[in-house]
Amino acid sequence: MAAAASNLPGPARHDSQGIPMHSPGRRLTTATNPHKDIHPVPDKSHIGPDIEAYKAAHSDTVGPHSDAWWAQQARENLTWIKDFSIVRTGGFPSAEELKEDNPNPPSTLPITWFPDGSLNACYNCVDRHAFKNPDLTAIIYEADEPGEHQYITYGMLLNEVCRVANVLKDMGVGKGDTVTIYLPMTWQAAAAFLACARIGAIHSAVFAGFSAESLRDRILDCGSTVLITADEGRRGGRSVATKVIADQALKECGDANPVKHVLVLSRTGSKTVASQHFTPGRDVWWHEAVANVPSYCPPEAMNSEDGLFILYTSGSTGKPKGILHTTGGYLLGALLTVKYVFDVHPGDKFACMADVGWITGHTYIIYGPLSLGTTTTFFESTPVYPSPSRYWETVSKHGLTQFYSSPTAVRLLRKLGHQHVQDHDLSSLRVLGSVGEPINPEAWNWFNEHVGKGECAIVDTFWQTETGSIIVTPLPGAIETKPGSATVPFFGIETEIVDSMTGKALDGDNIEGVLCIKKPWPSIARTIWGDHKRFIDTYLRPYPGYYFTGDGAGRDEHGYIWIKGRVDDVINVSGHRMSTAEVESALLLHNGVAETAVIGTADEMTGQAVNAFVTMKPEFSYNPTTEQALVKELVLQVRKIIGPFAAPKRIFIVADLPKTRSGKIIRRILRKIVAGEGDQLGDLSTVAEPEVVEVIKKKVADSMSA
Ligand code: WTA
Repeated sequence: MAAAASNLPGPARHDSQGIPMHSPGRRLTTATNPHKDIHPVPDKSHIGPDIEAYKAAHSDTVGPHSDAWWAQQARENLTWIKDFSIVRTGGFPSAEELKEDNPNPPSTLPITWFPDGSLNACYNCVDRHAFKNPDLTAIIYEADEPGEHQYITYGMLLNEVCRVANVLKDMGVGKGDTVTIYLPMTWQAAAAFLACARIGAIHSAVFAGFSAESLRDRILDCGSTVLITADEGRRGGRSVATKVIADQALKECGDANPVKHVLVLSRTGSKTVASQHFTPGRDVWWHEAVANVPSYCPPEAMNSEDGLFILYTSGSTGKPKGILHTTGGYLLGALLTVKYVFDVHPGDKFACMADVGWITGHTYIIYGPLSLGTTTTFFESTPVYPSPSRYWETVSKHGLTQFYSSPTAVRLLRKLGHQHVQDHDLSSLRVLGSVGEPINPEAWNWFNEHVGKGECAIVDTFWQTETGSIIVTPLPGAIETKPGSATVPFFGIETEIVDSMTGKALDGDNIEGVLCIKKPWPSIARTIWGDHKRFIDTYLRPYPGYYFTGDGAGRDEHGYIWIKGRVDDVINVSGHRMSTAEVESALLLHNGVAETAVIGTADEMTGQAVNAFVTMKPEFSYNPTTEQALVKELVLQVRKIIGPFAAPKRIFIVADLPKTRSGKIIRRILRKIVAGEGDQLGDLSTVAEPEVVEVIKKKVADSMSA
């Protein structure tokens, strides 16, 4: 680090790790910037001063230095109950190690970080800040209705977390038990997550937009004895029947239902829920329970490798994967990325607009900002309620300094017009972030010009549920940005663009392949709950020696990474991840459906959209007049089985699907037809019945023009 630091010019200061902080950004003028698509480092940002500083700093965090760097970061940023002597074990297995007859298969050599250290994640996120600064706002809760906001201090958060922890203990929850959390975006979700962490229970949060069926599957998979939920949610002026859905999920668990206690937060005070959807004995009101327990609960000493949470995500097959994150490594990744990627400093008010039910909410609403002791924001509403100014009113009202959102939200607000942005004082903002899907340059530029006024750092951050925290990103003040590129690897991360045919890392510039990581980093997922073999098969076996992200990517002449999107059967709609197989399984549950093929297609607003081709069983009768109603029924089917966000944009009911002679559906052809490239299908010699293709082309053309 010292070498990097000594190279830095001018008034740059360095933090204890030698990473430059608070240096004024070097402003590239058009004369010094030969590449028109490069956005110079804005004056207003704080880490600096340029890519050379980044390169020097980064090289000191990877290769032979990486374990030592992470160990130093872990000791300086986290509070340990017992220090660790081992930094890391395990790595990504080679082809040799992955061989079936290997007597020491990779499953016996797990990845661990700081494995003999102990700490408590909740203590790191709450107590240590509450002791120092009890009146500092931990959470800005911007409720659905404008004007209904609350500030929750670290002192208040500690009190609530301890009480919920004591309630959970009284319900019999202990170390290593799982607790399912199905809560809307109320600030108490933070208390629920952290209460679990405090007593060593593993939380499994389920996004409140998931259906009863999805919730049921996730409860059964991890066997939670306690469910934490709310009477109702509020979003965009409407109520969501959270408890009714939760009850339905528990009912559907049948005899296998592991849930003994349900802790119910009264979010709206719904009388209907209280009188008709409350099961005495099993259900307990949150406010009553917390009032009857002590206000302090000591944090448990957890091994760094003890599970912190499970979060289900979609993969290539129908069954969602329970991604397991462990305590020390995950927390370190969350903390450091908030600190450096968002350039957070004392007094900042950090806002991530995601939902706590997704990984972005876990890491950038709860664990990252709170472990760093900054102020975080719970935004319960939507970007357009009650008007498209809602985000900007929220920014100016609370003086938010970082604003982390998604390309879909930016595209929507851009479409609605910049008049909604211009009358608000956004001068508090320093860093604008984007995550979840590739951001198109038009949206990037709008974000930069209209929200950032050309003065904020824009960070297009690439990461995944499995990576735990951001792994490819610009750093404010150091990395010049290009709209659409997530730019460079974060400290301690070694990316490679791997040739998908040879499995070899590609050298040089202007190359394209799949994005892989060379060495484990602390916040990488450890396993898939109950299925370690699937973890290895999904992430470590495809390209031996690497972690495989599932995304295609290119590297340009400046070494910048461009994420191209998924190369597997995952569809990304508005940053919500789902597998084609999951949607297909949901459709197949309709009793008339014979076969389905689901594909993702490019969509101007949501990035990708779900399109489904469906054939009906011969005995199921429908005609052109009833077809419309059938399509609606099928869309409802998906909403019911997965959740509203997975609803197909288009469903084409067809007589047959294009298949190979061995009966495999050729999705490539369907993708091209929907993309309007039906006249460029190429070689159709593998299609068993080529006439099927013509019928489908006509069907798609007719429905698109209807
Ligand atoms: C996609 C969300 C392009 C990618 C944090 C990844 C992105 C998947 C970006 C993970 C980005 C995420 N540019 N694509 N900046 N960020 N993705 O698990 O396909 O919900 O594999 O995690 O989102 O989605 P997940």
